[in-house]
Amino acid sequence: MNTISINGEVFSLMFSEAEILRRIKEIARTISTDYLGKTPIFVGVLNGAVIFLSDLVREVTVDLEVDFLKLSSYGDEKFSSGSVKLLKDFDVHIGGRDILIVEDIVDTGLSIEFIKKLVFPRNPASVKVVTLLHKKKSQQNQNIEYVGFEIPDEFVIGYGLDHSQKYRNLRGIYRLTK
Ligand code: IMP
Repeated sequence: MNTISINGEVFSLMFSEAEILRRIKEIARTISTDYLGKTPIFVGVLNGAVIFLSDLVREVTVDLEVDFLKLSSYGDEKFSSGSVKLLKDFDVHIGGRDILIVEDIVDTGLSIEFIKKLVFPRNPASVKVVTLLHKKKSQQNQNIEYVGFEIPDEFVIGYGLDHSQKYRNLRGIYRLTK
């Protein structure tokens, strides 16, 4: 399936399931080496990161824990509203722990910035970010330790990423064609 039509908009395949899983294995190898001897907490940012997180953690070979944060989302829009709110906090204490924030996509970077401000005052041992996709915007210099794929500034769906809450279950990642 190389293109999908949704309400008159056409989405075309950007990354196949096989390409995504191959890249996740590579990232997981690096993470497993970097966290050797530690027990990091993988913190999935709901809802989009759920699918990436579940594939990623099963490829990581060090002991780990999983927790989730939920932030307010784009709603039905294709662009960031510019404001972020916390809808669900950590369930565990993160003081002294190694925190790996797991995102599906970093776009404006506002969500990551918000999470770091939430996390740092709680004195974790370390905070790193892994994102499957990173929208490259030349004016930004975000500090993201692990990136699956750099992509242009385009709207994408599938593999956890939604369009009005739907299409998260597509196995590949699709871009909106102009
Ligand atoms: P940021 O705060 O602008 O970096 O946006 C992060 C969040 O926006 C992601 O976790 C996604 O939920 C959502 N998002 C950003 N770009 C897209 C996209 O192209 N498709 C679907 N969701 C997106």
